[in-house]
Amino acid sequence: MIDLRTETLQAFAAVYGTEAASLWSAPGRVNLIGEHTDYNDGYVFPFAIDRRTFAALAARTDGVARVASSFAAEAAEIPLADLAPERLSGWSAYPLGVAWALREVTAGRAEEIGFDLFIHSDVPVGAGLSSSAAIESAVAVALDDLWDAGLDRRTLARVGQLAENRAVGAPTGIMDQSASLLGEQDAGVFLDCRTLDAEVIPLGFEAADLVLLVMDTHVSHSHATGGYSARRASCEAGAQALGVEALRDVTLADLPRARDLLDDETFRRVRHVVTENERVLDAVRTLRERGPLAIGDLLDASHRSMRDDFEISTPELDLAVETALNAGALGARMTGGGFGGAAIALTPSDHVSRVSHAVDTAFAEHGYASPTIFPVRASAGAHREA
Ligand code: GLA
Repeated sequence: MIDLRTETLQAFAAVYGTEAASLWSAPGRVNLIGEHTDYNDGYVFPFAIDRRTFAALAARTDGVARVASSFAAEAAEIPLADLAPERLSGWSAYPLGVAWALREVTAGRAEEIGFDLFIHSDVPVGAGLSSSAAIESAVAVALDDLWDAGLDRRTLARVGQLAENRAVGAPTGIMDQSASLLGEQDAGVFLDCRTLDAEVIPLGFEAADLVLLVMDTHVSHSHATGGYSARRASCEAGAQALGVEALRDVTLADLPRARDLLDDETFRRVRHVVTENERVLDAVRTLRERGPLAIGDLLDASHRSMRDDFEISTPELDLAVETALNAGALGARMTGGGFGGAAIALTPSDHVSRVSHAVDTAFAEHGYASPTIFPVRASAGAHREA
């Protein structure tokens, strides 16, 4: 079987008629805990997964950027000097948005060289596993090198986020790009989204005989429309009413006052964020002190908070979580932005087939589309492959 690396290089040669000069890759991510906390200046604890996006690259001499990929028929081409968010659309807004954002961030200090780029990936799209951040991060490391920009990983995460916010139009936070750029094998990235201080913390799943299962419900979501931005707006309104810069500054002790001040819906949005930040800190502490077998309840509590207070779950995600728990998972929760996508289940390895079978059966009984259930491992962040 040829691997994705070879396929990417071969496809590059087929599309552009020359060999690629370098090959880069970046992973998707699973968020273990800390949902909708990133844009509230809070804490997150995601990890990079063993599903990756590959980007093959070669320089051009005419200042033009060309991008093609295996998941969209149309290739796009634009002179670097013409790059602007409003000129970008479709899938190419991700890679070309990164080129635009890198120009913005380096403000003419980088050597802006035209390029041909080909993208290929096995990160499922629409599953809440950050296929978009995987593209952004692979392209960010590739262009940082080509342009000799010398940006550190945190700044490259900002570049990816800027592309997503401005060129794609999704008002997302910094978590996904950070996980994709800072992830390490068998470890999670504990990130303070206010300072961008990151700590890489061993997860120890394998040593504890645990498997992290992803249960993709195939209910697709988009963060450029609807619910995601409405949640973000509620959080901003809550912070403003409470007189703080961001909900990160609200503590558990402030919640009674928040209940008096806010309408019920805004209060529940705020309570999710405040308690979720606590759960992230708790999960990191528990993992360190007692190991991964002890974090299950925190995952469950996180899911309940998203279901009842933040209201971003779906019947399919709830069913996957509940069924996985009943079949022997230690903890389960939806992961990512919500309104569809995937749930995760931390499962003892000898219960994996029982959990998978139970979730499959429950979905069939409810008349839901058959879910895709697969294990993921915490893997290395973005890097050069060749
Ligand atoms: C999406 C966004 C992230 C984050 C999560 C929710 O994945 O891209 O920035 O807000 O949703 O935790």
